[in-house]
Amino acid sequence: MCGIVGYIGNQEACPILLAGLTALEYRGYDSAGIALANGKMVQIIKDKGNVAHLKEILKKSPPMGTTGIAHTRWATHGEPSQVNAHPHTDFGNRVAVAHNGIIENYSVLKEMMKSEGVRFRSETDSEVLSQLIGRYYTDGDLAAAVRRALLDVEGTLGIAVIAFDNPDILIGARKGSPLVAGIGTDELFLASDASAVVSHTKNVIYLKDGNLIEMRKGGVFHTMTFDNRAVNPEIQHIEWNADALAKGGFNHFMLKEIFEQPETIRNAMRGRLLAEEGTSRLDGLNLVLPELRSIQRIILIGCGTSWHAALIGEYMIEEVAGLPVEVEYASEFRYRNPIIDPHTVVFVLSQSGETADTLAALREAANRGATVLGICNAVGSSIARETHGGVYLHAGPEIGVASTKAFTSQVTVLALLTLLLGRMRRISHADGMKIAKALAEIPKQAAKILKKNEEIIEIARTYYKHNNFLYLGRSYNFPVALEGALKLKEISYVHAEGYPAAEMKHGPIALIDKNMPTVVIALQDSVYEKVLSNIQEIKARGGSIIAVATEGDKQIAKHAQHVIYIPETVDMLSPLLAVIPLQLLAYHIAALRGCAIDQPRNLAKSVTVE
Ligand code: G6P
Repeated sequence: MCGIVGYIGNQEACPILLAGLTALEYRGYDSAGIALANGKMVQIIKDKGNVAHLKEILKKSPPMGTTGIAHTRWATHGEPSQVNAHPHTDFGNRVAVAHNGIIENYSVLKEMMKSEGVRFRSETDSEVLSQLIGRYYTDGDLAAAVRRALLDVEGTLGIAVIAFDNPDILIGARKGSPLVAGIGTDELFLASDASAVVSHTKNVIYLKDGNLIEMRKGGVFHTMTFDNRAVNPEIQHIEWNADALAKGGFNHFMLKEIFEQPETIRNAMRGRLLAEEGTSRLDGLNLVLPELRSIQRIILIGCGTSWHAALIGEYMIEEVAGLPVEVEYASEFRYRNPIIDPHTVVFVLSQSGETADTLAALREAANRGATVLGICNAVGSSIARETHGGVYLHAGPEIGVASTKAFTSQVTVLALLTLLLGRMRRISHADGMKIAKALAEIPKQAAKILKKNEEIIEIARTYYKHNNFLYLGRSYNFPVALEGALKLKEISYVHAEGYPAAEMKHGPIALIDKNMPTVVIALQDSVYEKVLSNIQEIKARGGSIIAVATEGDKQIAKHAQHVIYIPETVDMLSPLLAVIPLQLLAYHIAALRGCAIDQPRNLAKSVTVE
């Protein structure tokens, strides 16, 4: 996720672009940059850091011109740095491109152009686009050059493009990543979402996938497909304000992020899942085959939600790959005397990549000679920099303090890792394919669960005044019970305990009465019958049950007051689906209690202290 803005009109573009970037900063803040075309010179200013930092730089000598583009970056390929900041130019410094998305075939294209003598400046996938557009910009037709370049690239993109020699044109195009055109009087705007244009105009065109918009001075524009067939633009009038737009119309970032999960899970496996081969490729691990084969033990380390994802990883890797796995709280690991041998690989899991305890645990493991790998969301973060390799989540910035989409992305990456290790040691092609195909289905199944939002609001209405909840699950869904309880605690300040369902009878069962509802993950998996017995034990003590169950389960409704049905998948992937209703339940209970959902009291998104 990155934010892009474009402007073409009669006003100075710089202040308009900077204001647009500020509205889009929730999409990323690793670096920011601006490029203006005035027909005379190349003007491109960019740096590592946020938009406020860019504004400071520009204060001294603001670039002049009435056509320009700007970008605020959420790093995916290449660490946050000045050279990796957008906009990117081509070898001849003739065009500038701001890009949001991932170019999947960038390395092939980069090698091809390098062999022709093109010199690349950055490590980004995006520079491939600017170089390609520059390569095809031969006869002064920028739209044709962009269209031609887009035929070569695979992946996702929302782009804004200018040519330094021609301030009369601005091009926008999208495939997979959002792009909105703002239609003013004699002026036109381009942005990743309408929050960046709404203060200038309420008339917008939400560009369709595979479409390109050519914008000219005087408010003239044409929309077309990448293969140059004219498209009739549909102008819409927006009613929302900028804040609501940044949240995509949701009341809170947390809810928006919950709803992003079909897309973020897909992004985590993009280019990595090899469904037909029943395995995955994780090039970022920087481990060659013999190194992967020689792993004899894995330690997974994290805090909070990341620790819960790690627990699921333990179940997956042990079952499918047959490797012993230990899961450690980072804060404990760092002060223990952990045993690390040359065949132990340590994975640290962290959304932010900055959690102090996780960073310290990483250093401790590295000092003891372990290979330390990261599973992180924030590219270029301290943890990402200090690990020997790793896998990025590509989930985009997570703004809500309570982690949601990062959790499902972490579990997705752990599933990919499991497939990779499992296929090397234990499972057949057919078994690998079964898991891989089920993983490919998860985004669609997650979207189906999100349609149950209204149903879950009703359940939240019934229970939001209760002050104690119990969450139970077994096997793969025991960590989901922990995560469901944590979500409720974090944002609604309601006491909630997550427990392995059978362990309940060794303590928490004493708490059960009509005032303590129990949320049970009761899927038709290998432990279904056992969980049903646990439900009976609760019922017998007057407790009420909210069950998350498998679609088509006819029995469960007889035992539970409320049932939220989720689609069937293989056992190891079921946490990816089962957690979604629990995230929604926690969200709606907190909303009904009037809590500050995105900034819960006493918590921080990134805990950089011990
Ligand atoms: C904080 C956040 C949690 C998060 C934990 C670990 O406590 O509030 O949501 O799970 O830190 O963060 P990390 O960035 O390392 O995943």
